[in-house]
Amino acid sequence: MGKYQEIYQNSIQDPEDFWAKAAENITWHRKWDKVLDASNPPFYRWFVGGELNTCYNALDRHIENGRGDQIAIIYDSPVTSTIRRITYNDLLDQVSRFAGGLKTLGVGKGDTVVIYMPMIVQAAVAMLACARIGAIHSVVFGGFAPHELALRINDAKPKVVVSASGAVEVKRLIEYKPLLNKAIEIASHKPEKCIIYQRRLVDAELIPGRDISWNEIMAKAEPVACEPVQATDPLYILYTSGTTGKPKGVVRDNGGHAVALRWSLENIYDTKPGEVFWAASDVGWVVGHSYIVYGPLLTGCTTILYEGKSVGTPDPGAFWRVISQHGVKTLFTAPTAFRAIKKEDPHGEYLKKYDLSNFKYLFLAGERLDPDTYHWAYNLLKKPVIDHWWQTETGWPITANCMGIESFPIKPGSCTKPVPGYNVQIIDNLGKKLGPKEEGLVVIKLPLPPGTLPTLWNADERFVESYMKIFPGYYFTSDGGFIDEDGYVYIMGRVDDVINVAGHRLSTGAMEEVMSQHEDVAECAVIGAHDSLKGQLPVGLVVLKSGVTRGEEELKKELVQMIRNDIGPIACFKQAVVVTRLPKTRSGKILRSTMRKIANGEPYSIPSTIDDPSILREIEEALERIGYAKKKD
Ligand code: COA
Ligand code: AMP
Repeated sequence: MGKYQEIYQNSIQDPEDFWAKAAENITWHRKWDKVLDASNPPFYRWFVGGELNTCYNALDRHIENGRGDQIAIIYDSPVTSTIRRITYNDLLDQVSRFAGGLKTLGVGKGDTVVIYMPMIVQAAVAMLACARIGAIHSVVFGGFAPHELALRINDAKPKVVVSASGAVEVKRLIEYKPLLNKAIEIASHKPEKCIIYQRRLVDAELIPGRDISWNEIMAKAEPVACEPVQATDPLYILYTSGTTGKPKGVVRDNGGHAVALRWSLENIYDTKPGEVFWAASDVGWVVGHSYIVYGPLLTGCTTILYEGKSVGTPDPGAFWRVISQHGVKTLFTAPTAFRAIKKEDPHGEYLKKYDLSNFKYLFLAGERLDPDTYHWAYNLLKKPVIDHWWQTETGWPITANCMGIESFPIKPGSCTKPVPGYNVQIIDNLGKKLGPKEEGLVVIKLPLPPGTLPTLWNADERFVESYMKIFPGYYFTSDGGFIDEDGYVYIMGRVDDVINVAGHRLSTGAMEEVMSQHEDVAECAVIGAHDSLKGQLPVGLVVLKSGVTRGEEELKKELVQMIRNDIGPIACFKQAVVVTRLPKTRSGKILRSTMRKIANGEPYSIPSTIDDPSILREIEEALERIGYAKKKD
């Protein structure tokens, strides 16, 4: 039996033994009473009775072990021409003082803090400071518009919001403060205080009584020690798109999360204490939480916080520059970032300028790694290019080529094998287990391993309904795919109305809710159409109210603006067409997947439940008008 097989089997047959051993790499204030409490399924709890502090494990512990002068974070910001190296000692100083500052504002154990920040060190400081005092952070991605921020503020009910004056998006200055002000204005929950980090780029106007500058807090604050919390206490809430306009607040606990991430760094990413790990993502996404901040720091690595993109900051050599300048061993990013490099520098001319000898692995996730991009990246780098699959809900990979355990030959298009802890299976709509290469729904047998979501914030019922009730005993991933005869998993895409745009997960339902507020729109649907750079792009199909005779172009402009204003530019919503009707089943369900196939020029069968098949021709013509629905040979 190979090493992977042995470890994997142990993790499935005796999860308590497996994870208890992994938990030895974490420092516990009090040891757990029970590794896994399975007494109330589907609410499983890991390391029950255990007490720890995540910030202690990410910072103090390493300093006590002699890593104080090691660089913890390299802040590399091509958009502001800044590189700063922060040691573990420096980081602890900032975090413990900011934690003290939060305490003076009345933030304590179990309180929530929303963090709406660009990619600056202060975002990580704020996260770790919350962890230090047992407060629960909820980071909101900076590309979300005020309405989306307000939804999250209403749900998380933060005592304090931490934000910054602004950011630079490639070359465009974005002022955060007006967006924050607007969000608080429309939110029904009002945070007591806002802490604003003033960047040199732009000075934000502070509202007396409510807003305090970061520097003022830091100047007055006394550093505070770590407060032990229960392993099962929440560390953070991270909102992610569901099928409706109301985002889901994925909860992460402290104990399981620390154990799983610490385990994953060495076993999946083959990255050890002292090595340089770079997740080129954003702290607002789960990748940023797990692999910019917590995973590398829990392991005692150097992590890179990069405020830039793969292209345009300033050129398609940006990633190679960072890798070579900072001695990165492991890079993790989304395939779309590589497709962007490929588009601008197809022959890899920029790569020739840099020494990548320390660079060992490229890990990609967030969307399927299409075989073309895989081959291009592999031929260019001649290093392992590893597709691995996970979700905000799981917080760390479900399937991967676990480079710290045993390296398997790569099959392009597959994200290799289930990671220890995850019992991945393929079933049909009725829950029947499918055989090798049979495509169906991807489910994970319960219990999920540590670090995965124990529930949704204040929404136990939604947690059960969304993930656990559909196939009892299994977590439903909402992804479709298959497993081949060698046990390699292939994830082919979402089976719900969630789309994936440039590695970002977005809800078509949320966009439809915004569009239907337009006074001329009677009905609408949003589908995710294939895009060669971003994977998918949203396309709106709109039915106008009777009597409305608007020009399509003018209407489209208004809808694009509405989605930019309400959801944010990150939705990348740029296309809408007018149709006379939407295709529906006889029971009234809009046939989005049929329209998606039409848009992508894929063969489709006319659903037997369709009320009027003749409408499909009109949909095809409408999508052709905007450059879609081109039949593939
Ligand atoms: N704040 C405000 N606006 C933001 C933003 C932020 N933090 N992030 C993105 N935006 C804006 C962009 O400026 C752009 O606006 P525009 O429509 O006015 O041009 C829009 O949102 C879309 O952004 P993006 O998808 O990033 O497109 P891009 O064309 O600027 O860049 C890529 C293309 C491929 C380089 C980029 O999408 C990318 O690097 N993707 C990787 C994503 C990733 O790391 N995902 C995490 C999972 S691993
Ligand atoms: P998010 O919660 O934003 O991480 O998005 C999770 C979704 O992204 C998954 O449900 C998948 O649909 C998709 N996804 C992430 N990684 C991969 C991958 N490696 N292959 C295929 N799809 C992926």
